Formats: sequence, C-alpha cells, structure tokens
Amino acid sequence: MWIAVALCAVGAERATSNELKKLKFRILDSGFGRVRFEADLAGLYRALMALRTADRLLLETARFEARDFEELFEGSRGVPWEEFIPREKGLTVSKVRSNRSRLEAVTSIQGVVHKAAADRLCGAYGVHRLPDGDEAELRVYLEKDQVSLLLDLSGAPLFKRGYRSEGGTAPLRETIAAAMLLLSGWKRKFPLYDPFCGSGTIPLEGLIYAWDMAPGIGRSFALSGLSLGDPALERTIREELLAKVNFENTIRIYGSDADPRAVSQAKSNLIRAYELARGENPLRGMRLRMPEKGFPLPDFRLTPMEKTRAPEPHGFIITNPPYGKRLGAPQEAEALYRKMGILTENFPGWKLGLITDHPGFESHFGRKADSLRKITNGAISSYFYEYNKL
Ligand SMILES: C[S@@+](CC[C@H](N)C(=O)[O-])C[C@H]1O[C@@H](n2cnc3c(N)ncnc32)[C@H](O)[C@@H]1O
Repeated sequence: MWIAVALCAVGAERATSNELKKLKFRILDSGFGRVRFEADLAGLYRALMALRTADRLLLETARFEARDFEELFEGSRGVPWEEFIPREKGLTVSKVRSNRSRLEAVTSIQGVVHKAAADRLCGAYGVHRLPDGDEAELRVYLEKDQVSLLLDLSGAPLFKRGYRSEGGTAPLRETIAAAMLLLSGWKRKFPLYDPFCGSGTIPLEGLIYAWDMAPGIGRSFALSGLSLGDPALERTIREELLAKVNFENTIRIYGSDADPRAVSQAKSNLIRAYELARGENPLRGMRLRMPEKGFPLPDFRLTPMEKTRAPEPHGFIITNPPYGKRLGAPQEAEALYRKMGILTENFPGWKLGLITDHPGFESHFGRKADSLRKITNGAISSYFYEYNKL
C-alpha cells in the first residue's frame, strides 16, 4: 500500500474526501487543500483518472522529523529514491512549504533535499550527476518539524482534462466546477443550467459526471514515467473506466452566454469531451465528429439570462458570473448581480449555487445565501454562495 495525497482547492476538501470514499479508498486525514489516503498502484491510476475535484496527486515517499538541516539531509537520503526515479530521469524540488517548523528557509530546504536525493540516486546508478531536462517533481512540506517528501504523480495539473482548446476569457478551473456541482448536491436526474457558461466548463463537468466518465481518461500522467509506473496496469484501469462511460443517461444540461465566441468555444469543447469519452484523443489530430442526431447533449445558446425560463419545476443553476476583476469593472458586475434577481422569477423553486470573489454579492442580488463557503480558486479567494430555493 502507498500513501497518496490529493491536492484540491482550499474549501473543497469535503468534496474530494467524498469522492475518495466513493472510490473505496481509506482516508487517513485531510485539511487545508489536501486529503491523505491509502492506495495500491491500481488505486493510484484510478485516482488519477477518476478524481474530479483534485488538482494533483502526490505520492508520500517519506515522512520524518527534522529539527535541523542534518536531520533533513539524513531523512531525505534514507529514501530508496531508485525505487521511484528511473536512471534516465532527473529530479527537481519544485515546491517547499514550511509551517510552524524550525526549518524555514525555502531555498536551503530545497537545496538540502535535492542534494540528499541526488547523492542517493547517483550512488545507486553509479553516475556523477543526475540528467537534466526530463525531471521528476518533488514537493517538500514541513508541518511542526514533520517533513513529508511528496513525488508528483500527475504531471500537468489534473484540471487539464484534455478537451479544452481555447480557454475563453476567464475560464474556471474544471476541478472547481466539479467541486461546485458535487457540493451543491446536483445529480444527473435534475436539469442543470449555467447562465454565464463562457467556454462551458460547468455544463461540461456536469456532462462528464452524468456520463459516468472519469475526467482523466484521455490524458497521461507523470506516474507512467516513474519506476513504479506500469503501462499494462494503466491500460487495464483506463479500459475499465472507459467501459463505465454511459451515453444512454438522459441529461438536461443548458448553458448560455452573452458572448458568441464563448458559446462557440463551449460547443467545440463539447465535441472534444465527447471524443475523449469515446476513448479517442482529440488533441492528437483526430478528425472531430459530432455525436449522432438525437444524442442527449448540453444545449449551449446565445440567449440572455432574462429570456430563459425554467423548463421544469426543480433544477440547479450552477454558475460563475463575471467577477468584475478579470472582466469589466466592479460596477458592471454589481449591476449584473442586481439583474440576476430575475432568476428568482424565472426559476422559482430551483437551487442556485454560484462562485464569485465579489464580497458584496448578496447585497446586490438582494438575498442572503443559505450557505456560504470560502474556496480558493487558483490565486483568487472566492465564495461559493448557495440558495436552496429561488
Ligand atoms: C467568469 S466568466 C465564466 C467563465 C466560465 N465559467 C468558463 O469556465 O469559461 C463570465 C461569463 O459571463 C458572460 N457574461 C457577461 N455578462 C453577461 C450577461 N449580461 N449575460 C450573459 N452572459 C454574460 C461573459 O461573456 C463570460 O463568458
């Protein structure tokens, strides 16, 4: 058994833990944007492909106490790095975080851990220096003098699902979109509407979930380039997850936006997501095909929010309206939040969940949220407001 750490947005730990529990992993602990759990190698591949809300998956290669640099060096040198890192790979210490610990100097910690691991690897492989270029990525976390050495298994962050061609003007991270959907309690039996869909991130995450598609099914992972990578096992897990994709599920997913370019991006992203779900890689120059006519797909439209009416008495609006920071001025965003009051008339009885970093959303919208959760969305601290019934 290995110990793995799933990194997620701060505030999304509950969603990530629930996902891990559903996948039958044993959770060891969680907090501040990470969930620690046990997994065998098949489990690591499954977690990499199936987790919707995790941004990265790391392997805990060691955990030990270090009150000074000597202890840090000895602890780091004691790890059997050759069991993880093959001869042809180098090593980079990409991140150091120290909290309530005696050792604090980031560059020194970075240097000491790198030197210790490189010493061990050079000894094991009988070389004088590690190769440059293709490097395994190591993160060092210190918490109350406890060091964790964590090897990255993801490669590109896991929010890169492989379907997005163009990002749009202010795309939401796919993992945040997934967290919003999971935290809101949306299920595919309910209609889902995003009135500010942009490049379609929220509706597409909903679609991928409704298809029972593992979001990482079409991409590669750093794990495969490490010594413990197992291509045959990876293929087996990929096929197992691909076999679970179910296009038969009825879905009612809608997205609209005022920007025609955004709507057309959402449509192209949809076709690519469909190709991924079929086990094809759209980024390898495949010819893209639209699904057959009559296939249940999200409906992306250039219809203003105020002209859209609830198609059913119960449903979910999950959305990411303009923040007024990256797009336009705050006053514009505020005017729009006031206009969003129309949703109460047009979608009575629906649940609304929205993410914004604007501190005054509730006062402009005109109603206090039933629940408010802080979520770090990339570098931006945001709030996820939920209204149980419009
Ligand atoms: C923060 S972005 C949404 C990004 C989206 N979640 C994504 O991942 O691409 C906000 C979107 O609201 C759209 N928008 C701005 N004002 C609008 C309005 N009055 N009606 C509808 N859409 C609007 C913008 O075109 C933009 O795509």
